Amino acid sequence: MDKNDLKPAGFLDIPIPRDIDLISSIKELKKAKNAIILAHYYQTGEIQDIADFIGDSLALAQWAAGTDADIIVLCGVGFMAETAKILSPQKRVFVPDLNAGCSLADSCPADRFKEFIEQHLDHTVISYVNTSAAVKTLTDVVVTSTNARRIVESFPPDAKIIFAPDRNLGNYINSVTGRNMVLWDGACHVHERFSLEKILELKSVYPEALILAHPECKSAILTISNFVGSTQALLEYATKSAAKEFIVATESGILHEMKEKNPDKVFIPAPPNDSTCACNECSFMKLNTMEKLYNCLKYEMPEIFVDEDIIRKAVLPVRKMLEMSKTKQ
Ligand code: 13P
Ligand code: SF4
Repeated sequence: MDKNDLKPAGFLDIPIPRDIDLISSIKELKKAKNAIILAHYYQTGEIQDIADFIGDSLALAQWAAGTDADIIVLCGVGFMAETAKILSPQKRVFVPDLNAGCSLADSCPADRFKEFIEQHLDHTVISYVNTSAAVKTLTDVVVTSTNARRIVESFPPDAKIIFAPDRNLGNYINSVTGRNMVLWDGACHVHERFSLEKILELKSVYPEALILAHPECKSAILTISNFVGSTQALLEYATKSAAKEFIVATESGILHEMKEKNPDKVFIPAPPNDSTCACNECSFMKLNTMEKLYNCLKYEMPEIFVDEDIIRKAVLPVRKMLEMSKTKQ
């Protein structure tokens, strides 16, 4: 196999033998190659089920930093695989489909971000992990939705801070901490399109349901929510809560683990405003399939490469985040 076999598809489009048992074949390949599969909560249920570890973006980074596997297959999107490579440059990191990008990371190109920083030279730069490796090299400390508030609050109340790239998460943290961070004007197309009207309609059908929302959602959605948190925090909240019904405003993949951990509870995906579909999926996340995962492990492609110089600079703010996340809140 040659790297060119990936072009222009971004994944190995090799037919899989009809009689193959994908689940056991993936498990065998994984064992034979000392590989580990890390999956984000937004992956399909079958990928979550076969993964060695499922988690939010902070947990995936922590696992990538600590694993002794030779190969990491990151079932998520590009910035997550890049972060794994930055933290474990000696390991080979793969993603089943290279086209799995992120509209939020794309909303912050490194050259424009550099100009933005130059306009605020006395500011500390805090960037969400949903950024390219190049943006991370311009950053003082990386955050995820799990630790963003806490890391921002570790700076003095009058600290001058740039927060990028998610304006909704930035606005949310400003509102709960009383800070006045300068925000980059980026957003996630999935979380931005939840419909307030449709959520309120759902709430009238399920009056007992609690509304759970990811902080990448617009402020109108966050205002009507009973709880705001990262995917991991939403999962933990729903599991501990005495309530039995939840309307969930984040990518619908999280419902798989919510139902798994809480078979007696009802989880209703919050609908987007622009489709007849009842749930909201990240089309990038859903590019990864079991077939692509199988081919990825078998042929060891597509591989993630990050320039050594970029790794050397980008690892500093990522490691800083991991260090600051060690003690429990
Ligand atoms: P978390 O994994 O931090 O909850 O973020 C969600 C997300 O948008 C990942 O792309
Ligand atoms: Fe990016 Fe949004 Fe998809 Fe997360 S859900 S990977 S932020 S586009």
